[in-house]
Amino acid sequence: MGDATYIHGTAAPEQARLAELNRLTNPDFLAFLDLQPGMQILEVGSGLGILACEVADSAQGGSVVALERSPEQIAAARAHPAVRYLEGDAHQLPFADDRFDLVYCRYLLEHVGDALQVAREMRRVCRPGGRVAMMENDISLVRFDPPCPAFAAVWSAFARYQWRLGGDAFIGRRLYRLLKEAGFEQVELSQQSELHWSGSPNFVAWVDNLAGNLDSARTGLIESGLCTADQLAHAADELAHLAARSDATAGFAWNRAMATK
Ligand SMILES: C[S@@+](CC[C@H](N)C(=O)[O-])C[C@H]1O[C@@H](n2cnc3c(N)ncnc32)[C@H](O)[C@@H]1O
Repeated sequence: MGDATYIHGTAAPEQARLAELNRLTNPDFLAFLDLQPGMQILEVGSGLGILACEVADSAQGGSVVALERSPEQIAAARAHPAVRYLEGDAHQLPFADDRFDLVYCRYLLEHVGDALQVAREMRRVCRPGGRVAMMENDISLVRFDPPCPAFAAVWSAFARYQWRLGGDAFIGRRLYRLLKEAGFEQVELSQQSELHWSGSPNFVAWVDNLAGNLDSARTGLIESGLCTADQLAHAADELAHLAARSDATAGFAWNRAMATK
């Protein structure tokens, strides 16, 4: 089965960006998971394991299996006595049917070649009555005031590049259909919002995170011919100016779904 190439790569600055994104988004996501003591949990596409470790802390007495395709990410992942890292592919989960109480993924589906197959696998390894949770990207939801047209142009090139690599930068809007097609009858949607403004605690961190997304894909974006080094530099300047303003706003919403088997 062909899979998509991971657009961000695993270089040190990208791993630092992912760690910072965890800091920004983990508290709300943990509340969304509604973790209970003793749960048997699977994270699919666990990256640096930062979230998996916090999940293990919240599900006291439980355990988390953190499945990840990249050995580089596993090598850099955080250790935790209740988290077991396993190298593997989300399309073919190496577990028996009905094994986990909770199966979740976050920031994964945009990177996979066949999101429906991944959703089916997540459902298969979830026990009857258990839950499958997702929080995924739809990059069209990024908003700034004042607008950042140079950023918008390369952001759209980023989405086209992700298509070429086999992924889908807009997958977040498809979660409901995906889970229905995977066989779930009970699916609830929600959003986790990012709303930051000049002077709010995470405004600069959020804008930096968006700039870091572009940096992580810089070589591929240029080599693919989808944008030029000048366009990327212009977009980065625009974001730096936005971050330095005293009257700017940045908004976004993560798409979440919770399905019960
Ligand atoms: C953006 S990171 C998210 C990590 C983590 N879920 C989090 O929320 O911090 C996405 C991870 O998915 C992994 N990944 C991509 N395709 C995969 C696949 N087919 N199977 C397993 N992991 C995959 C990447 O290597 C990367 O570490």
